[in-house]
Amino acid sequence: MALDEMAVFLIRQGFPALKQTIEGKPIVFFDSPGGSQVHNSVIDAMQRYLVTSNSNAHGAFSASMRTDEMTHKARENFADFLNADRPEEIIFGPNMTTLTFRISQAIGQTLKPGDEVIVTRLDHDANVSPWLALRNIGAVVRFVDFDPTDCTLSMQDVEKFLNQRTKIVAVAYASNSVGTINDVKTITRMAHEVGALVYIDAVHFAPHGPIDVTELGCDFLVCSAYKFFGPHIGVLYGRHDLLEALPALKVVPAGNEPPDKFETGTNNFEGICGASAAIEYLSSLGAQFGSEYKPQFNTLSSHRQDLKAAMIAIRSYENQLCRKLLSGLSQIPGIRVYGICGPENLDHRVPTVSFTLEGIGPRDIALKLNKENIFVWDGHFYAVAAIEQLGLLDKGGLVRVGLCHYNTQQEVQFLLESLWEIGNG
Ligand SMILES: Cc1ncc(COP(=O)(O)O)c(C=O)c1O
Repeated sequence: MALDEMAVFLIRQGFPALKQTIEGKPIVFFDSPGGSQVHNSVIDAMQRYLVTSNSNAHGAFSASMRTDEMTHKARENFADFLNADRPEEIIFGPNMTTLTFRISQAIGQTLKPGDEVIVTRLDHDANVSPWLALRNIGAVVRFVDFDPTDCTLSMQDVEKFLNQRTKIVAVAYASNSVGTINDVKTITRMAHEVGALVYIDAVHFAPHGPIDVTELGCDFLVCSAYKFFGPHIGVLYGRHDLLEALPALKVVPAGNEPPDKFETGTNNFEGICGASAAIEYLSSLGAQFGSEYKPQFNTLSSHRQDLKAAMIAIRSYENQLCRKLLSGLSQIPGIRVYGICGPENLDHRVPTVSFTLEGIGPRDIALKLNKENIFVWDGHFYAVAAIEQLGLLDKGGLVRVGLCHYNTQQEVQFLLESLWEIGNG
């Protein structure tokens, strides 16, 4: 069975939040770039953990041992999701931002004044500020620009800035403000040619497509489970030899090896358990709806194949929604979509579509859509440099429609009709 409208009808039954109504009318969740709704199996797993195994790690009694087993299984699940070599390369933390500060501070201890760091103007600030903080120790930070006409990164800038002094390149897999997918594989190759490390922010890409750290060859990659149907927790992949070598800011009794050395204090075990269940939810989608894609990955374990197949199936379904959204928006007078807007160009974007409407500000549009129970975000989404570069920072930013696999064509149609009315009202 393919992941189509019929399948999504069934999938939606597993998301209790999607069944809510306000004043008898359903809610349309187009807010997933800020956080997605949570699958039943995730809620159940977290509740089960809190009832049966709630305890700290590394004890000599069964609840603690179950916590250790659950945490290890979660690392294995994330290693499968990201196609990492080993579970010890997976580090859990409160969120992506905290993990990124942790790694930037660790890397900072290895830098000398004059060493260079590359960030981009398209990124969420969580992949900018932690690197800017290294200016304190004399690092020079270079900003890669983007083309405002289609919001694609300037590869010329990447090339121009890379040199023997470059120690780290921090770049997003996909933009959370305008949906561009960056060519992180090429950037990784170019960075490695000068001996720089690559830190990929995959928070926005993770719900929308397969991630393969082995194929990318990146050094670090970070994502957040609350963007892909799990609870609020961040997940970092780091190459094992680098995690071993980097200094960690840690308490003395904590383990000196990865992952322990980077997991400061007591972990959020119920969150880890829920994040792990979110991965199992995704692999179940692959097993149910991804059979046509699995043969491409027959060198991988069956679980990894399921995860890849799930994410390809999701991408293909979301592309159909995105095509409808982009072509519908292009017909509404006064709407300007930012980023890649040709429906034929979907390979280079995720289904996060941001726009302005002439004569009415983003906040007012979001408020009017809220009257129809359509939830969208407006503003700069912490991608401050991007919105500033687009000249929209003092104009309320953008309206952002974030599609994900539990959305439907009918919901997109309802949004388009509502926007049409707002535009003409
Ligand atoms: C692309 C991107 N990077 C980083 C973050 C920050 O993630 P966290 O909330 O896990 O710190 C977000 C959050 O929206 C994001 O969209």
